[in-house]
Amino acid sequence: MIEKWKIGSFTIGQFVLFQTILFLIFNKVWDFGISLRSLFTSVANASEMLEIINNADIEKDESFSKDLQINAGKIEMKNMTFAHDSSKNLFENFNLTITAGEHIALVGESGSGKTTITNLLFRFFIPQKGEILFDDISANKYTLKSLRNQISIVPQHPEMFHRTLRENITLGKNISDKKIFEVLEKSQSLQFVNNLEKGLDTVIGERGVKLSGGEKQRIAIARAFLDNAPIVILDEATSALDSITEKEIQKGIFELIKNKTAIIIAHRLSTVQKMDRIIVMKTGKIVEEGVHKDLILQNDMYAHMWKKQIS
Ligand SMILES: Nc1ncnc2c1ncn2[C@@H]1O[C@H](COP(=O)(O)OP(=O)(O)OP(=O)(O)O)[C@@H](O)[C@H]1O
Ligand SMILES: [Mg+2]
Repeated sequence: MIEKWKIGSFTIGQFVLFQTILFLIFNKVWDFGISLRSLFTSVANASEMLEIINNADIEKDESFSKDLQINAGKIEMKNMTFAHDSSKNLFENFNLTITAGEHIALVGESGSGKTTITNLLFRFFIPQKGEILFDDISANKYTLKSLRNQISIVPQHPEMFHRTLRENITLGKNISDKKIFEVLEKSQSLQFVNNLEKGLDTVIGERGVKLSGGEKQRIAIARAFLDNAPIVILDEATSALDSITEKEIQKGIFELIKNKTAIIIAHRLSTVQKMDRIIVMKTGKIVEEGVHKDLILQNDMYAHMWKKQIS
């Protein structure tokens, strides 16, 4: 897996799987007394699992790292310099502060560094200079486990396993159906789940019922409701959605990020407009920021982007 990530084919989806399983390994196995074997068969196939286990120690905590709580949800990237390879810095003395509870939209052309920011926040990559702080505490003071448990990711193309819908939502955690239905409702998934003949017991994935892109993203939103983490990172789906689905997903998204700090990599005007602040990125730099109305008046990169979208 680390090899894939080095060559750049490491998707957020794989990453979320990885994060989830690390969480399960370190937290839940012992709590519930589930054998490793049955746990693993409940979340993924054997070869995937093996790959993950073999790489489970790729990230090591510092000796001073502790399981710390993120209470407020403030995020700060301070004088951060980062390069994927030594030849060229993607970020140079990059600064971005996101206040607790703020909702940020990240927009900008392909390759501008949006996904890299999310990978840095997860400490998948470590900045060469500068630091990242959560609630004014340097990221490396948190154990990876505690940090990643407090950040939910809703990927652009969520992974679904060839398992029941229930298992795809709980990812092996012991959660009551009542609670599952609660998050299905909040994520606007209830209607399509109720239309499945076997409901939560429907087997989905490659050889089961196929879910549409929009349905998968809503299931990922349901997963994030279960996490109830103080920080949410969401990569909005780019694929065309009909306007009803788009509205439903958006309703789910805004319910999810209520009272949380949120970073949304946004592709839709309808999402971006509602955010507290829009950050426009270009090759690792923030070139514009502000609310929608002001950026439109500024009539620069952002304004041109949206003119193109609505024409
Ligand atoms: N794992 C990696 N190894 C090497 N280079 C990478 C890696 N991931 C991204 N890059 C490079 O870093 C730059 C920023 O990529 P990033 O994926 O953050 O862009 P993005 O803004 O998310 O783009 P998109 O809108 O296409 O998703 C690009 O030049 C990309 O090629
Ligand atoms: Mg990206």
